[in-house]
Amino acid sequence: MNSTKCGCQTGENAEANFTELAPVLEKYAKVPGSLITILQQTQDIYGYLSLDAINYIAEKTGIMPAKIYGVATFYAQFRLQPIGKYLIMLCKGTACHVNGSDMIEEAVCEHLGIQDGETTEDGLFTLNNVACLGCCSLAPVMMVKTADGEETFGNLTKASVKKILDDYKAKNA
Ligand code: FES
Repeated sequence: MNSTKCGCQTGENAEANFTELAPVLEKYAKVPGSLITILQQTQDIYGYLSLDAINYIAEKTGIMPAKIYGVATFYAQFRLQPIGKYLIMLCKGTACHVNGSDMIEEAVCEHLGIQDGETTEDGLFTLNNVACLGCCSLAPVMMVKTADGEETFGNLTKASVKKILDDYKAKNA
């Protein structure tokens, strides 16, 4: 195994783990001002920015890992922890807000024991409040993203959102 004392992956091992990231780095590694784009695409691929990914990006771009880490922690859009199997994107846009999204958020938080941006201890759910999902006529709305795709739920009530979450839980019982 080719790893350093701090556990950071370098060399062939890292190459093997980051094959999907390689084309992104080929395209942007040497383009000035591309760090945010690289981090966005890395997060799109892996769901979050791991320390290994940050070190790999540093190796390929020549940017210090501390600087990359600083950028990743500065912007709220970046996650440094893995997300749950189900990423709940709860709309907090105007139409959803007017139609009770705060109440829906309260129900989700209460039911799962997490706040916005957190993941349940069992690794099943991550809650993310987001801006308009583009289906305002169904407000209040949430989208649940999984590895296989996404499902949108509208006209939510406290009861219906709890039922939806329980259905997801049941699939994993
Ligand atoms: S405001 Fe929620 S979908 Fe548009």
